[in-house]
Amino acid sequence: MEFEEIQKRIKTLIEGPVQAIPEETMAKIRKEIEKKCPTSKELFKEMKTCIPGGYEHQLVINDPFALTISRTLGSKMWDVDSNQYIDWLSSAGAIILGHNYPPLREKIIQVLQDVDPAVYYTNEYELKAAKLIKEYVPSIELFKFFQSGTEADMAAIRLARVYTKKKKIIKIGGGYHGWSDQLTYDIHVPFSGDLEAHGIPSWCFKDIIAVPPNDLDAMEAQFKQFEKKKGVAAVIVEPLGPESGNIPVAPDFNKGVQELCEKYGALFIFDEVVTGFRMDLGGAQKYFGVKPDLTTFGKLLTHGHPSTGGLGGRADIMSYLASGVEAGQEKVLATGTLLGNPLTAAATYWTLQFIKNENAIEKASKMGDKLTAALNELFETHGFPYFAYNFKSVVQYKTYAAINMDIRIPGNIEKALYRNECVNRIATALLGQGIITKRGASAFTTLAHTKEDLEKFIQAFDTVLKMIPH
Ligand SMILES: Cc1ncc(COP(=O)(O)O)c(C=O)c1O
Repeated sequence: MEFEEIQKRIKTLIEGPVQAIPEETMAKIRKEIEKKCPTSKELFKEMKTCIPGGYEHQLVINDPFALTISRTLGSKMWDVDSNQYIDWLSSAGAIILGHNYPPLREKIIQVLQDVDPAVYYTNEYELKAAKLIKEYVPSIELFKFFQSGTEADMAAIRLARVYTKKKKIIKIGGGYHGWSDQLTYDIHVPFSGDLEAHGIPSWCFKDIIAVPPNDLDAMEAQFKQFEKKKGVAAVIVEPLGPESGNIPVAPDFNKGVQELCEKYGALFIFDEVVTGFRMDLGGAQKYFGVKPDLTTFGKLLTHGHPSTGGLGGRADIMSYLASGVEAGQEKVLATGTLLGNPLTAAATYWTLQFIKNENAIEKASKMGDKLTAALNELFETHGFPYFAYNFKSVVQYKTYAAINMDIRIPGNIEKALYRNECVNRIATALLGQGIITKRGASAFTTLAHTKEDLEKFIQAFDTVLKMIPH
């Protein structure tokens, strides 16, 4: 679906009335889930006594409780009560070969027979992985592992400030770059500012600027405003737009950002934590035809094996990250006990090999196209204004469009929260039928998803749509 069409449809959704799955229906769904999943229910109670909230991750469906998963393979996950789920969350985009992909598992087991992750010294897999990354992603001359996408993004902005001797970092409103102090500004929803920044002193945001999505004029205005005072060190973007394209990027936006960075002497940081090795072996940068100065990775880099994060880019910039630089030389401190450990490095090397050999990117992308088309057909049949679009294997489907509401308009925060609850109900209703999604709003397709998986998703969504009054 073209960008303009998506914008038009989002506008229709936002301006239209909304109805949630009724509470009585939800009560029934919750009861059924409780009946089907007694062990998860009990474990959740116990988890809450040991783990804050009872589970770790933001994208877990927690209504009526978080499931405990005991087995995974391909497109499926099984809970501790042996219920099977088709997983379209795909570990928040950390897998594309499918869960527990046997050839990768075998390689990892072999590596662990020889060496444990606690080596600290360099291992050969680091070199093999870095060579492959350089080969696939031409903007990368040097590469360094980190332990998460959050860490890689933290390192990237620190590096940019040292290299450019400038201070300001521009991000896109609503963009997510992990939970580090500075980059927590204006996340998830544009114009949310420090709404989610409890515990972070406001001075952490002094040199962070958020500009509205797809607004190059607003970005250039910031470049101009700070040209003489402190200057802009870097712009960091999610290639598909905030929240993996939940607020979709305009076709020429990334190129426009690159040009502004060149014009004003700032670094262009491409956060490919979600898109790296998913959009193309050369990353979303190949897809959009741009050449960032720095690129960050996570998730798919190791196919979800711990610990997954990396930063690569121009050698003259990356050199500041060298460990053990002589005293007096300028250096960017960014380190960690387990960086590039044999498990991480081998997982990276083999993941990249298997993605290429299996043609996984294009196969997952085809499934993304099919899922998008099937969802759009379903929504149309039911007469809902809902719609789906995809960037290859990243599928977004919009029902209530909570994230797209302009929260500067009085009353819209409350409306967005209600719409968010409506989306959560869809997520729970799908879960009740054995479908796990990215909280009722998107899906990551993989090599492992089959035609039958797709049909089951559509059947389940058909049932859910019948529950929504309109
Ligand atoms: C675009 C983007 N950047 C960075 C991160 C943070 O990565 P991690 O969860 O590994 O810290 C994420 C996580 O979802 C992400 O989507």
